[in-house]
Amino acid sequence: MRAVRYEGPGAAGDVLRLVEMETPAPAPGEVLVRVRFSGVNPTDWKSRTRVGMVVPWQIPNQDGAGTIVGVGAGVDPARVGQRVWLFHCASGRQYGTAADFTCVPEGQAVPLPDSISMQQGAGLGIPYITAHGCLFAGGDISGSTILVTGGAGAVGHAAIELAHRAGARVIATVSSPEKAAIASAAGADVVLNYRVPGFLDDLRAAAPHGVDRVVDVAIGANLVASLSVLRPHGVIVSYATEESDPTIPVRQLMTGNVTLAFVVVYGFTPQAIGAAVGDISAALAEGSLGRLPEHLYSLEDTASAHDAVEAGALGKVLIDLGE
Ligand SMILES: NC(=O)c1ccc[n+]([C@@H]2O[C@H](COP(=O)([O-])OP(=O)(O)OC[C@H]3O[C@@H](n4cnc5c(N)ncnc54)[C@H](OP(=O)(O)O)[C@@H]3O)[C@@H](O)[C@H]2O)c1
Repeated sequence: MRAVRYEGPGAAGDVLRLVEMETPAPAPGEVLVRVRFSGVNPTDWKSRTRVGMVVPWQIPNQDGAGTIVGVGAGVDPARVGQRVWLFHCASGRQYGTAADFTCVPEGQAVPLPDSISMQQGAGLGIPYITAHGCLFAGGDISGSTILVTGGAGAVGHAAIELAHRAGARVIATVSSPEKAAIASAAGADVVLNYRVPGFLDDLRAAAPHGVDRVVDVAIGANLVASLSVLRPHGVIVSYATEESDPTIPVRQLMTGNVTLAFVVVYGFTPQAIGAAVGDISAALAEGSLGRLPEHLYSLEDTASAHDAVEAGALGKVLIDLGE
């Protein structure tokens, strides 16, 4: 099969190489998937630059979509031919989705409804599972008010959609009219540009009774704004790092009985992953999940795809593996 892989950390153009290699065989409990689209996330380029690789080579990219073409022992052979979306393919595994085929435990190959395109399926894994964990770790959010910062980012967009679907009122922040349109289409009730003068006043006006939970892409940059609208006993969930760690105003947080929570999707419990997959599948079947703008690259051009994500491309960067 064709695969793009790297043998050590470095810049995309320096270390990502297109190779021919043997197609993996599914181990017991695994499925072999013909990848149609590979989804690229920030985690994929960040992992590629991390020193201390413990394997001799790595095929990048956690997310994807394709068709099951083989099953290992213990997996129902009726799954062959099933269209699936994939998550966590390169988590503790060498076979990411930047290849014609990948093998994953069968639970990481989730049936994709016929109504949903492979492109959309390849963009689900990391963003939607992360967003789900940020929203629902404390239980039901119906009737609550959620602030989603960076509402046109992949995780932010997913958080708006899932929170809206769950019956929450959603306030989203963005940095441009183009991003505002994306956040509104995802279901945000109020969208505010956090870079314009008067943003804090607009935020307080949009949430006169405060917000219950913040799903935050930049906790340090947004802390003053978040705390200005967070209700007592509110929760700020941070899922992204910044260039430097923030200073925490301990007394203010104590006074408000605020919870700061930090999540990483690779550490979610099987129960949290199962709940996310169940809700995402239900939302897909209902047709309540939309698509971000998509940017397609060939497998040969995987380095450019990684660079586009690193540069902050608006929308989903996908690698087209071909029919
Ligand atoms: N912990 C986890 O498990 C986990 C899972 C997924 C992703 N992540 C991390 O989360 C980050 C975002 O991932 P993504 O896939 O959603 O990336 P993305 O699609 O590039 O979106 C990032 C968004 O954040 C916005 N943003 C940046 N600074 C902001 C600020 N101060 N206030 C409001 N919005 C801000 C950006 O828009 P503007 O620049 O226009 O504001 C952009 O829309 C990455 O660092 C990624 O590594 C972590």
